[in-house]
Amino acid sequence: MKAITVEPRKPGTVRYEDFPEPDVRDGSILVEAVVAAVCGTDLEIAEGKYGWAPPGQTRLVLGHEAVGRVIDPGESRSLKAGDLVAGIVRHPDPVPCPNCAVGEWDMCRNGQYTEHGIKEIHGFMSERWRIQPEYAVKLDPSLGILNVLLEPTTIVTKALEQVMAVGTRSFWEPKTVLVTGAGPIGLLAALVASLHGKEVHVLDRVETGLKPELVRALGATYHSGSVLNVGFEPDAIVECTGVGSVIAESIQQIGAGGVICLTGVGSGGAAMRSTADFAAAVVLKNNVVVGSVNANKRHWYKAAEALARADRNWLGRLLTRYEKPENFKEALERRPDDIKVVIQFAAL
Ligand code: BGC
Repeated sequence: MKAITVEPRKPGTVRYEDFPEPDVRDGSILVEAVVAAVCGTDLEIAEGKYGWAPPGQTRLVLGHEAVGRVIDPGESRSLKAGDLVAGIVRHPDPVPCPNCAVGEWDMCRNGQYTEHGIKEIHGFMSERWRIQPEYAVKLDPSLGILNVLLEPTTIVTKALEQVMAVGTRSFWEPKTVLVTGAGPIGLLAALVASLHGKEVHVLDRVETGLKPELVRALGATYHSGSVLNVGFEPDAIVECTGVGSVIAESIQQIGAGGVICLTGVGSGGAAMRSTADFAAAVVLKNNVVVGSVNANKRHWYKAAEALARADRNWLGRLLTRYEKPENFKEALERRPDDIKVVIQFAAL
């Protein structure tokens, strides 16, 4: 079969090439790829900055946001041939740590977890892939290809759950949520926060185009420029840029008792103030800055509920570019008008 593979930590090594059929030990369910979407992590892996091949192998099949069609349900009791399915990205560590032992692999403590297409297990950008029944998620057939947004929706579902969990430390009724960054994660965070009935604001660099339109279509308010100029003190900020200055401004702008959830992964960035100055700002307003990565089964369930309630036309507008697998180079380019790029392996 063909697969989009990479040699992790070596830039420029992505290929669309012949690759062995998925090993039955990777899961009894055999799946035909329909689509796989590209995310920032895939681009980082392609740039040689992240990622791990499976032990004893040099290449990793990319892809962790996918929709597939079941060819053989294997040992699954709930799936049948033809069903649409996604694979849960992270698998628990083998020790297991206490969190993985209770199914909270997203909170893995020892770092020995594995992730499809990212860390030590092959991803879903191959013509066929396999998954174990306990990591297979049956998808809503009426959402079709839009199901490719489920995985990033799990990420924001967890992030917002973290915000609310932290908030229970005191009396707190958050009304306003600021999302920084209007990429796929930011837009989906805005969607989920608005489904929760919050007053949602989204900030991004761009001033015109699809991003402001999509924000306004949610009934949310769009801002461009500095977080310091949004004109209010948010109860919660979901930070989706990973940009140092945006994070620094968020800590200045958050309201008293407010929670900032960091979801973006960046590096560097000029420090505008010293660490102790930031700490003082956080202390004097009882703020919490919480990091959030990955998602467990509960978040997959809740994310699917959110997608089911979302406007399908709005969801479809997030999928801005479709590419064939042989055009993987184009798919892995960052273009100004992109929100989510989808690689189409088969027709639905
Ligand atoms: C994925 C997560 C993963 C994280 C870190 C993200 O792109 O959506 O599932 O945990 O990267 O590897």
